[in-house]
Amino acid sequence: MTDHELKINFKEYDTLKELSAKDHSLCQEAVKAMANSHSPYSKFRVGAALRLQSGKIIHGSNQENVAYPSGLCAERVALFYWGANHPDDPIEAIAVTAHTDDFEILQPVTPCGSCLQVLAEYEKKQNKPVDILLFCNNGPVWVMNSVESFLPFLFFENRLIL
Ligand code: THU
Repeated sequence: MTDHELKINFKEYDTLKELSAKDHSLCQEAVKAMANSHSPYSKFRVGAALRLQSGKIIHGSNQENVAYPSGLCAERVALFYWGANHPDDPIEAIAVTAHTDDFEILQPVTPCGSCLQVLAEYEKKQNKPVDILLFCNNGPVWVMNSVESFLPFLFFENRLIL
């Protein structure tokens, strides 16, 4: 038997102002993206913004549905839009934030496993890691340099890729 230990690295900043100008501005885009959240059921509004290598910004927000499982998280809305429309313009970074009137969000919201898996697929596809910026109003900012920091055992099988 072998005991393994994994270390996860991420950076924590106290405020968005400590980020580089372009990361700070991407976070502001994630806030703007929340405006189109369709979340009448959870009342939990999530915004995601992607910055592509060309400088283009893509917005995503969570889109819920009365048939609950038909809804989709903000991150995957943005990521699938990228995959469908800009697959040759690599993703440099994704910023994610959330807001609800029901309670105060004190820690950054971390993407769900399905969103991480989708991000992992695109990191592999573009052969470049994606910076992940997570923040909430008045809380800390967490920055990871690749989805692998979150999901070290992500499902991946090279032989399933043509
Ligand atoms: N949600 C996201 O959009 N992204 C996340 O990272 C976590 C959860 C959405 C799904 C649902 O519309 C609402 O937040 C409550 O779970």
